[in-house]
Amino acid sequence: MNATQWAGIIHPAIAIIFVFPLIGIVVNFAWQTRQRRLQIAPQGGKSKIPPVVGREHVSIGRWLAGAVVGVWFLGTGYAITTKGFIQGNLLETYRSQAIFILLMGVATIASFALLYRARERLWRTIFAVLSSGGLLILSFTDKLGIIDKSLIFRRDNQWYFSHFYYGTIATILMIISLAIIQEIYQDRSNRWRNLHIILNCIALLLFVGQGITGARDLFEIGLYASP
Ligand code: HEM
Ligand code: HEM
Repeated sequence: MNATQWAGIIHPAIAIIFVFPLIGIVVNFAWQTRQRRLQIAPQGGKSKIPPVVGREHVSIGRWLAGAVVGVWFLGTGYAITTKGFIQGNLLETYRSQAIFILLMGVATIASFALLYRARERLWRTIFAVLSSGGLLILSFTDKLGIIDKSLIFRRDNQWYFSHFYYGTIATILMIISLAIIQEIYQDRSNRWRNLHIILNCIALLLFVGQGITGARDLFEIGLYASP
């Protein structure tokens, strides 16, 4: 294996070692948070589950959202660097487009970092839209006419079983979770809470899909077809 192939293992390795255990912890706390709330509601009943589970779910959830966005950047960053910057010599052939892609990456990471700090609803919405939009612009540079070939392997013809589409939707769902924390707490009618549960159950299925499609892609790329 050469250095590029070893570098290709960083993304799956971090997903497996870091992201998937976090998903397990977050889901465990999510389940307990729900059980506790249902045991206490509606007549203020008693529960053996400690009240701290909700806070733990959110605090590890915040790490999870960051880790998923990080792993997304590792996956696409590797594809863009190897196919675009190294093999395609992007800085020579498409200089301004290459600089645009780099700046777009920096701006997207900056908006995501600011989403962690934003308090008011307007700013949370703005930074969530900017970071999700950034991910999408970076993903579809060919369709947007920025450069003429796709740098990311999106598997457009099999979008329903694509590592890229599953991963990008799950990443955007994590960004939404981060953006709506305050709404979940403030809403007495539980509408935001239920929306959060539905969206993140979908995210959970997509994460399972990431395990399957990621392993398939590693296998499919293989040692000899890879850069
Ligand atoms: C796979 C990922 C996740 C799943 C399956 C999930 C699911 C859940 C569930 C079932 C609840 C309990 C709802 C209830 O009381 O009935 C909950 C609560 C909550 N979740 Fe998540 N969640 C996930 C990730 C996240 C992330 C990434 C964040 C934010 C960064 C987050 C923020 C919250 C908040 C603020 C609450 C309310 C906690 C409380 O009542 O103290 N969740 N989630
Ligand atoms: C939360 C989990 C994950 C997310 C959000 C994620 C996301 C992504 C994204 C957006 C890409 C770029 C699309 C592409 O070029 O194919 C990618 C590539 C890839 N991912 Fe993942 N991934 C995750 C987990 C995994 C796992 C668990 C594995 C392996 C077991 C894996 C293996 C790969 C491989 C082999 C590539 C192709 C790299 C290349 O283009 O050469 N991923 N991932």
